[in-house]
Amino acid sequence: MRKEQFVCPYEVYDSMEELPERDAELMRRAHEAARNAYAPYSKFHVGAAVRLANGEIVVDNNVENAAYPSGLCAERVAMFAAMAQFPGVPFEALAITAWSSTKAISEPVAPCGACRQVMVEVEHVSKRPLRVLCQGDTGPVMVFDGIESLMPFIFLEKFL
Ligand code: THU
Repeated sequence: MRKEQFVCPYEVYDSMEELPERDAELMRRAHEAARNAYAPYSKFHVGAAVRLANGEIVVDNNVENAAYPSGLCAERVAMFAAMAQFPGVPFEALAITAWSSTKAISEPVAPCGACRQVMVEVEHVSKRPLRVLCQGDTGPVMVFDGIESLMPFIFLEKFL
C-alpha cells in the first residue's frame, strides 16, 4: 500500500479588475447573463459565459422549472448552446458567477459535479485545457487551468 495525493492548482485574483483583459471580459459577460436567469424557486441566479477558439462568446443562465429536476444549470445550458451554435469549434474558457435575491454571494461559485463531468468531455474534444473562472456576485475570482484541477480521476469514454 502507498498513500498518494492529488494536487489541485488554481489562481486567485482579488477582484475582477485584476484579471487579464480577456478573462475580465468573459466574466463581465457571465455577470450580465446572470441577470437573465430564470430562478424563481432557488432565487440563485447563475450566469455562464463560454469563450470559443473562433473568438465567439456564448452566454447563458440557469433555467428552473416547477418540476425541479427539469431545470438545468447555467454552465450546461451555456456549454450545450455553444456546441449547438458552433459545432466542432474548440472551447477555451468558461466563466461562472451567481447572485441571489436572498443573500450576498461574495465567494466564488463552484460548478456542480454534473457540470464538471460535461466540462471533462468538452475539454477532451477541444484538445486543450479548459480555463474555468469562478466568482460570486462580488469578491475574488478562482481560475482553474484545466478541468482536472476541479475534477480528479475523470471518467472518459475510454472506459466504455
Ligand atoms: N446552479 C447552476 O446553475 N450552476 C451550478 O453550478 C450550481 C447550481 C443552479 C441550479 C439551480 O437553478 C440553482 O442554481 C440552485 O441550485
